[in-house]
Amino acid sequence: MAIVLITGGTGDLGSKLVERFAAGENTARVLSRRARPAEATTEWVQGDMETGAGLGEAVKGADIVVHAATGGGTRAKADVPGTRNLLAACKAAGTPHFFYISIVGIEKVPLGYYKAKVECERLIEESGVPWSNLRATQFHQLMDGFLRLFSRVPLVLLIPKSFKFQPIETGEVADRMVEDVAKGPAGRLPDLGGPEVLTFGEIAKAWQQARGQRRPIINVPLLGGTARAFRAGYNCTPEHAEGKVTWGEWLMVRYGG
Ligand SMILES: NC(=O)c1ccc[n+]([C@@H]2O[C@H](COP(=O)([O-])OP(=O)(O)OC[C@H]3O[C@@H](n4cnc5c(N)ncnc54)[C@H](OP(=O)(O)O)[C@@H]3O)[C@@H](O)[C@H]2O)c1
Repeated sequence: MAIVLITGGTGDLGSKLVERFAAGENTARVLSRRARPAEATTEWVQGDMETGAGLGEAVKGADIVVHAATGGGTRAKADVPGTRNLLAACKAAGTPHFFYISIVGIEKVPLGYYKAKVECERLIEESGVPWSNLRATQFHQLMDGFLRLFSRVPLVLLIPKSFKFQPIETGEVADRMVEDVAKGPAGRLPDLGGPEVLTFGEIAKAWQQARGQRRPIINVPLLGGTARAFRAGYNCTPEHAEGKVTWGEWLMVRYGG
């Protein structure tokens, strides 16, 4: 029986990881900035990877540290010091396995958040802590979140229609991570992608249908390296289209038929 610390255990992916690790033979431990909620059934450490608060307690006795915490696009730079602090705590504690979840194609897409992920990967590789790193494509929830955000503009849906994505269901990413964790430190693992590569236009059309929304979908012709990279689909991995749940199926569950 292993103690598994899940940073970001309250997030989209992290909560699925916690469910899976807690259901098995292992003891799941969550690191969160929030106080332990009354309904929590797992071990819980309140801490902050960015300041380092609570990290020593969080990694104490942990056999595996699954690092799924992120400040996201809005606090991209926080992930680098946060990962550095977490690695230092793991090194001090002699953590046997550090498992990172990263994103497909990050070195080819010059987005600030992806640059921070590249830097986190480098810190992990050079840390001396035994590690694994799985890169996955964008989650269905992220597509849904983007489209909700773009829908704040009234009457039309303004999006870069030709960007490509290969969305994947977070439960499938969590399943693969649980499998890979069991194999021990393996370095960079084969990428993991959703079942289909779609344009943002196709994603938006299905999303509107599922929600009964009928706004004209208007293309925003974005310039620059990041836009070129998303149009080229550098964030996709069609050769690793192992996810099974399609965008349409996910929408059915999320919004009903
Ligand atoms: N979303 C995608 O499409 C996608 C695709 C591929 C890979 N990934 C990677 O998968 C991981 C999880 O992504 P997600 O979308 O599931 O994340 P998420 O839902 O945004 O959750 C982020 C988590 O990070 C925690 N967190 C943020 N700042 C923290 C800090 N300073 N200290 C401690 N915890 C902190 C939050 O916990 P509290 O608020 O409870 O503190 C939250 O649980 C990330 O590494 C991401 O880059 C995401």
